[in-house]
Amino acid sequence: MKHFCTTDDITELADWLHLGNRLRAEPDLLAHLGRGKTLCLLFFNNSLRTRLSTQKAAQLLGMEVMVMNFGSEGWSLEYTDGTVMDQGTAEHIREAAPVVAQYADLIGIRAFAGLKDREADYAEMVLQGFVQHAGIPVLNMESATAHPLQALADALTIEQFREKDRPKVVLSWAPHPRALPQAVPNSFAKMMQALPVDLTITHPEGYELAPEFTGGLSPEYNQEKALEGADFVYVKNWSSYSDYGAILSQDPAWMMTAKKLGEAQLMHCLPVRRNVVVADDALDGGRSLVLQQAANRTLSAQLALAHLIQSNS
Ligand code: CP
Repeated sequence: MKHFCTTDDITELADWLHLGNRLRAEPDLLAHLGRGKTLCLLFFNNSLRTRLSTQKAAQLLGMEVMVMNFGSEGWSLEYTDGTVMDQGTAEHIREAAPVVAQYADLIGIRAFAGLKDREADYAEMVLQGFVQHAGIPVLNMESATAHPLQALADALTIEQFREKDRPKVVLSWAPHPRALPQAVPNSFAKMMQALPVDLTITHPEGYELAPEFTGGLSPEYNQEKALEGADFVYVKNWSSYSDYGAILSQDPAWMMTAKKLGEAQLMHCLPVRRNVVVADDALDGGRSLVLQQAANRTLSAQLALAHLIQSNS
């Protein structure tokens, strides 16, 4: 059975990007592909873009959609086998996942990292629990370590707006008051290695991402140097991977501004904290692609769902 858990599940990126461009021009191109199928979206964490764009994508494919805020409305799930469930968890994944699968043909899961236990987060307990026990295709709508729907939308955006064959793309860390997971930068870094771009990653020391996502690319700790000649600047906060979940810096000098951006085009997955992560003048200055990225989330969800339907039929 095929699932869509990471960017590695994108079989032929060039074909997917080509189909994405066609869907942008003709949104109902695959209108009948999902007819008669039901998609169940389970949210263990908040969302705006993922929730609405995935529902819209499913509707464009002719699917029925059910959505549940599982984190606030569902039973607290147990994932470990053999547990004596006399504490906080009320239902085991061994029952919950196959029960959901009786009502749906595909399941979407959003479950963020807890940022307390790196080994547990990077084992993807929740997502893999559904993969293991649901028995139907699973769509990752941002898990502990990966956000492939966002990364695919980002690739579509770079393809849409690049002005040269091999643009320079800079992934720049920015400050944030809360500890955020590494899922978005992990998947973005991985995706950029599959595109004809020159990737530079810049962040303060201590924010190195896991090498399996960066491909061993050494970071540039000097943001100003990293930004020289950039065509696209992807701004994102993340917490430390080595000192897992820690906030090591809140240095406002790392915030993205219009001056730092120069002629480069600005990217951010959203939501973004204005004047903390990105300054107003960068978001409003005419070089921002953040709304186009959000628009491309519908395309990336259509592509992933179409792939799951076709490859599992
Ligand atoms: N970028 C993104 O995934 O947005 P949401 O968290 O609002 O879904």
